Amino acid sequence: MRLILLGPPGAGKGTQAQRLVEKHGIPQLSTGDMLRAAVAAGTEIGKRAKAVMDAGELVSDDIVNTIISERIDQPDCARGFILDGYPRTLVQADAVEAMLSAKGTKLDSVIELLVDDKALVGRIVKRAEEAAAAGQPVRKDDNPEVFQDRLTEYYKKTAPLTGYYYAKGTLRTVDGMLSIDAVTEEIEAVLASL
Ligand code: AP5
Repeated sequence: MRLILLGPPGAGKGTQAQRLVEKHGIPQLSTGDMLRAAVAAGTEIGKRAKAVMDAGELVSDDIVNTIISERIDQPDCARGFILDGYPRTLVQADAVEAMLSAKGTKLDSVIELLVDDKALVGRIVKRAEEAAAAGQPVRKDDNPEVFQDRLTEYYKKTAPLTGYYYAKGTLRTVDGMLSIDAVTEEIEAVLASL
């Protein structure tokens, strides 16, 4: 199963991807996690990405396309994977299609999580508060000011993917305002219908 989880920042992509990993035994490919790991490790990519991520903007298409292209070549992706936070631009969407086509395969589904903007910012603020209270690192982009820029980037560059995948017939939508368990159930229902 090759699946994309699409949705604005805080929509629940990472949360649901982890549940899909447990249930279906395929890896979660989160470009956000991979970029944060590169920043923490101080790699060349991490150095280039850090300021862009802290500002809530998108890292260049070339960087993330290379990361994903190398990742999906790994043996654990042979049975499928869940793309979380990628693609995020039309250029990335074309790139992943070309990558899969070169392997003689294609995406099975794109599931978009629909969540109100107000709820999104509430989730991000709550996550930051909970991390701080637990003594864990707080993401530099998890605050209301940077969140607004992340949301603007989403509407400018990522939201057009909805039309892109709708036109291809692969788009399914799920109400991301439901509880985490209910969203999982909706996603499983979509997957069962494929
Ligand atoms: P990334 O790490 O991908 O962040 P994001 O898309 O902004 O998403 P989040 O991780 O904040 O949210 P999510 O949808 O995964 O929700 P989550 O499950 O965590 O990207 C970070 C940055 O990296 C980007 O800004 C960019 O700079 C760069 N980047 C990454 N990919 C890129 C790409 N492809 N191209 C260019 N740049 C890229 O949930 C959020 C919170 O809500 C959690 O606390 C969770 O417990 C809670 N929650 C989840 N579901 C529910 C629910 N149903 N009800 C109530 N609470 C819920």
